Amino acid sequence: MIDYSNSKLLVESDKLRSGTVTWKSPSNLAIVKYWGKHGIQLPRNPSISMTLNNAFTQTKVSYEARENHDELFDITFRFHGESQPAFAKKISSYFEKLLPVYPFLKQLKWDIESENSFPHSAGIASSASSMSALALCLCTIEDELFGSLSDDLLFDRKASYLSRLGSGSAARSVFPHWSVWGKADFVNGSDDEFAIPYGLEVHDDFKSFHDDILIVSKDEKSVSSTAGHQLMENNAFASPRYDQANRRLQDLLVAMRKGDIECFGKIAEDEALTLHALMMASNPSYLLMHPNSLEIINRVRAYRKETNNPVYFSLDAGPNIHLLYPENIVHDIRPFIEEQLVDLCVDGFWIKDWCGEGPEQL
Ligand code: DP6
Repeated sequence: MIDYSNSKLLVESDKLRSGTVTWKSPSNLAIVKYWGKHGIQLPRNPSISMTLNNAFTQTKVSYEARENHDELFDITFRFHGESQPAFAKKISSYFEKLLPVYPFLKQLKWDIESENSFPHSAGIASSASSMSALALCLCTIEDELFGSLSDDLLFDRKASYLSRLGSGSAARSVFPHWSVWGKADFVNGSDDEFAIPYGLEVHDDFKSFHDDILIVSKDEKSVSSTAGHQLMENNAFASPRYDQANRRLQDLLVAMRKGDIECFGKIAEDEALTLHALMMASNPSYLLMHPNSLEIINRVRAYRKETNNPVYFSLDAGPNIHLLYPENIVHDIRPFIEEQLVDLCVDGFWIKDWCGEGPEQL
């Protein structure tokens, strides 16, 4: 167990100063999914994700000394330039959770500005990018105030840990290429409390892999991921599911080290459909796929059969389809999307994305 509680991270009042920190942090797509949690944001099974390049959140945190440290947090929050008191409240409860780790949070006044690279209403989960961007800013601020996080490995680990407390999947966004979160006996250094990078171990084909996101609906989800995780607690399939996720992760990592794209693609599709099957088998049951999600899945499978091109699909907890394929067939897949899939996307909207280099401080 890592214990980051540290009552010493308080600034002496004559040393309180102001500053501004900006981080850009990407979203990620899980291939073996995190679905089910316990305790304080701990996963029921290990997961692996690809860090994206183009879908990201950019967050600027400005801080300055504050007179009264005993009151509630002093936070203003703007999203794409507009004040968002409801989000400020969410950040306030996140800060509350972080207080044992960062007692200095109450000593300062916070002004936070955030924007996403993708349209606000694209129906893309933004908690991974937004929570990791904020956690990275806080780690940089810790280092600015106390000089205590100059080691890159320790910095990333703490940023992943703090991201996790904001949103489980955010723990994985801190690393380039690929990242594993959750204890698995067959992955050295893996841990439930923070994610680890998994980029070096995989075949080069997976370092330039594509993930185009086909936007099927921009509507708000009827059931949030957080509520979905909770429903796993009484799901009749929960226990076999967690075993299955472990087995699939083990098989997937072998495939990714070897460069076996077919095996990778099969596991990716099985995982996406299992995730949605678990939602349908929850009590109460719910559906997040749309008719067009199913139609795209059918067209992708038909195209693959016809052309032998290794293109596969995945889904997050929503109706949008992620198209996964290696770099060497990008010139076939883009016309396929334009000719056969775009009519199934809302307003013909889709996002070109691929495996990225991870967060960047600006
Ligand atoms: C389907 O990380 O959004 O995308 O921890 O409650 O914030 P919270 O949930 P969240 O769940 C993500 C679920 C998923 C699978 C995954 O990313 O592994």
